[in-house]
Amino acid sequence: MDNPFKFGTIVQEEYFTDRVEEVAYICQFVKSPNHLVLISPRRFGKSSVVAKAVKQSGRKHITLNMQNVTSVTDFSAKLLREFFKIHPMERLRHLISRFRVIPTVSTNPASGAMDVSFQPDMDGTVLLEDAFMLLEQAHTENDRLIVVLDEFQEIRDISSKLDKQLRSIMQEQKHINYILLGSQESMMTDIFENKKSPFYHFGELMRLKKLPREDFRAYLLKGLSGVFPTKCEEIADRILDYTDCHPYYTQQLAANVWQVGILQSETNDAIQAAINHIVNAHGLDYERLWMNFNRTNRWILQRLATGASLQTGEYRTSTIYSALKRLQKDGYVIYSDHYELEDPFYKQWIKNES
Ligand SMILES: Nc1ncnc2c1ncn2[C@@H]1O[C@H](COP(=O)(O)OP(=O)(O)O)[C@@H](O)[C@H]1O
Ligand SMILES: [Mg+2]
Repeated sequence: MDNPFKFGTIVQEEYFTDRVEEVAYICQFVKSPNHLVLISPRRFGKSSVVAKAVKQSGRKHITLNMQNVTSVTDFSAKLLREFFKIHPMERLRHLISRFRVIPTVSTNPASGAMDVSFQPDMDGTVLLEDAFMLLEQAHTENDRLIVVLDEFQEIRDISSKLDKQLRSIMQEQKHINYILLGSQESMMTDIFENKKSPFYHFGELMRLKKLPREDFRAYLLKGLSGVFPTKCEEIADRILDYTDCHPYYTQQLAANVWQVGILQSETNDAIQAAINHIVNAHGLDYERLWMNFNRTNRWILQRLATGASLQTGEYRTSTIYSALKRLQKDGYVIYSDHYELEDPFYKQWIKNES
């Protein structure tokens, strides 16, 4: 029997639950000529929900994860490579011939996949303009292309002028809907909400929340009932209490609980066994992370892990606040109506150690 839970990659089909309204909204939204910006902490399900929506829209679409882009030249090459996957290159020949720098295109004989490269010393801006122009010219107002740029905040790291260049390219386009996703809340809001940023008010801002408990519970029950026929309701509730409905950690814990149920069916407390397993498996990483935190951060993380107050007078409020902001930016802490540790298993490790 295959594990009915999945975590770590984009989930679709039987591993994907709920998000009905969000999928419908995105599908509807791309029928307008506008652009969408989707923000949430990492592993909330942005990439998955957008993948599902663009597929459902039935429109031509390409997706690029900006985390994997190493330079402006690489950006142009990867964009073209994705584009050639949905458009046979032969039909674009007349458009490619207008390029100021002609890319080298080769086919991998084994996989049939197309690869695109440019001379490394080329002027990145020219390549980028030409690549984006091709996307625009191969489409029309009635047949708009959807371009998904995942982890969009990375553009600031790729090149300091990239945001300006991109914005000036994009504002001339009429045949593309952009969906821009990002996990770094503070950077994303700075890119789209700061008046001085070239992307100020570029598109509609949408925020993704954790999954609603009832839907997630039904999903867990379906996967767990085969292994825990009598206790699955209790187990599903305890999993969701522990992970607070976080999409990724819920699937991770459920997958491990299921595994315990299959392999060690005599275990009394499958949830505790699964938690111990996960915390132990990550022990080395957790320790390394811990060693890199300064004393203030360690103090804050310990207090958050144990649910203790931060207002003890030990540190100035401004010191705590700026440390929290930093921890949030780095993804260790998330804020919904209060600050909490992002990873419930790291939280467990900190509790065990302190
Ligand atoms: N709709 C969903 N239903 C069930 N699990 C989900 C859903 N969305 C996300 N997940 C879980 O969260 C993990 C991370 O999803 P992903 O789309 O990569 O998030 P993000 O792009 O926000 O980092 C997935 O591997 C899966 O385990
Ligand atoms: Mg993602």
